[in-house]
Amino acid sequence: MKIFRDSGKLRKWCAERKAAGAKIALVPTMGCLHEGHLSLVREAKRKGADEIVVSIFVNPVQFGPNEDYAKYPRSEKSDLAKCRAEGAGAVFLPSPELMYAADHSVYVDETRLSKGLCGARRPGHFRGVCTVVAKLFNIVRPDFAVFGRKDWQQAQIVKRMVRDLDFGIEIVTAPIVRESGGLAMSSRNGYLSDEERGKALAINKAIAGVRCGMPAAQEKRRARSVLEKAGLKVDYVEMVDSSTLEPVSKTGKGTTVLVAAFAGATRLIDNRQL
Ligand code: PAF
Repeated sequence: MKIFRDSGKLRKWCAERKAAGAKIALVPTMGCLHEGHLSLVREAKRKGADEIVVSIFVNPVQFGPNEDYAKYPRSEKSDLAKCRAEGAGAVFLPSPELMYAADHSVYVDETRLSKGLCGARRPGHFRGVCTVVAKLFNIVRPDFAVFGRKDWQQAQIVKRMVRDLDFGIEIVTAPIVRESGGLAMSSRNGYLSDEERGKALAINKAIAGVRCGMPAAQEKRRARSVLEKAGLKVDYVEMVDSSTLEPVSKTGKGTTVLVAAFAGATRLIDNRQL
């Protein structure tokens, strides 16, 4: 497995592999790899990638000033071992200085799908995501890239960016991987105390209880009450049209239910397609 810290060398390696006929997949991550990330690597393999490039980069530009950039978990050594065990061909571990020149001044802004949900609560977050993903796409030039459906809004926005800016890269999404109690896997689960982890199980319960063919306002109230009874602080509960991300008035096939809630200081997200 190749380890690159320099974008020029990775770009050259990818171009050479591609010239030799390899189908290249990119799995962008922020590291602290868990089963959810590894399922993305396996999905890339299943989709026929000859070379899988995993990027590990805690992207400062997608964190707000009061968010957890500094304390976000970093575990390079075990991440590399996991990538090697899964058969990744290369891992990209750039530094923030390499990714962002001191006078970096170009950003990618999606202006429609990023307005609501996490975009409304985390101003600038998706601008940071789109910018770093565009950079990774330009360095690796993969045939396809794999994103997890836990970050469902992110995946929709990346698909829109690829369409609107003609990247010519297929975006594959992989199902949410859950812990045994149903909690969606996330690097941020590591912040949870045992008590908070217990409370966080209500998130999956709340979205699993949402019914089809019902007034969305009523289903939102029901879900919110499950979360609040468990002692979580609700950031949002939304029911949106899966293609426009606009709120629906009635739930049905094609509705996506999304929750963001705080267990203590830890913000967790989850979603489900009805
Ligand atoms: O989902 C993530 O881990 C990040 O948002 C991503 C896509 C790697 C961009 O930094």
